[in-house]
Amino acid sequence: MIISCSASQSLAAALATETGRTLADVSYTAFPDGELLFATEPDADTAIVIGATPTSDAHIELLLAQDAAREAGAQHITTVIPYMGYARQDTAFEPGQPVSARAVATAIGTGTDHVLVVNPHTNDVCDYFGVPAEPVDAASRLAEPLPESLTDPVFLAPDEGAISIGQTVRDAYGAGAVDYFTKTRLSGTTVEIAPSDTDVADRDIVIVDDIIATGGTMSEAIGVLTDRGAARIYATCIHPVLARNARVRLAKSGITALYGTDTLERAASTVSVAPVLADRLRDQQ
Ligand code: R5P
Repeated sequence: MIISCSASQSLAAALATETGRTLADVSYTAFPDGELLFATEPDADTAIVIGATPTSDAHIELLLAQDAAREAGAQHITTVIPYMGYARQDTAFEPGQPVSARAVATAIGTGTDHVLVVNPHTNDVCDYFGVPAEPVDAASRLAEPLPESLTDPVFLAPDEGAISIGQTVRDAYGAGAVDYFTKTRLSGTTVEIAPSDTDVADRDIVIVDDIIATGGTMSEAIGVLTDRGAARIYATCIHPVLARNARVRLAKSGITALYGTDTLERAASTVSVAPVLADRLRDQQ
């Protein structure tokens, strides 16, 4: 039985199709004071609870869904977190600040037996759940929409943290170079990019990142590539957070295409991670 939170309905449906499991009836309502009310079918034995947590309400809803599964009789609960919010706050950056990723992971871990997290910002956050938790790498899926005839392509990580994702997408595509830029974050929305020496003129570029949030990182990288005469530029990511004006910012930057996966349900979420999750769940049966 797959029990879906409201933020992950399309992915839950795709996962049900991929795995042949039943998609549980669910309802998402709220009390007049704003408190959420989650309900599901009262007959689950083994439950897969799936819910991205891009907002505080989504976090609460995931906790309620886990508890509903337990109340419904589930003896074993696997919690799938397609996008884990707060994962980038994986350390106390200033004295007096929390390790926010640990705080939310601890809460999620109390309601489940096992956790799968799709491309967390760092795999280390899996240690915070207090129950067995594993990252699931869905980066290979980003090769799927690319045209077969890219010209001398470069798979570019906009910072060092995304190099392995770039390599995975290149391997899945089957050809091309891997390169990376070096990034310094100046504020929440602005970054400074130090480009590499790679000649990108007249080459097709696939920029690969784990997250596009404000679009600041991607915009800077696109600017550098455009100035250097790159041909087509594809902006891709696992998690298309696309906060505030990010979509317009990227549309104006001159990209050929923007796409991400359905770990977050956006217009740009044209690639599903369901096959990767289904494989992982099958391996664990
Ligand atoms: C940072 O380390 C991540 O890999 C992304 O590059 C970053 O989160 C993107 O954020 P933004 O779109 O706001 O630049």
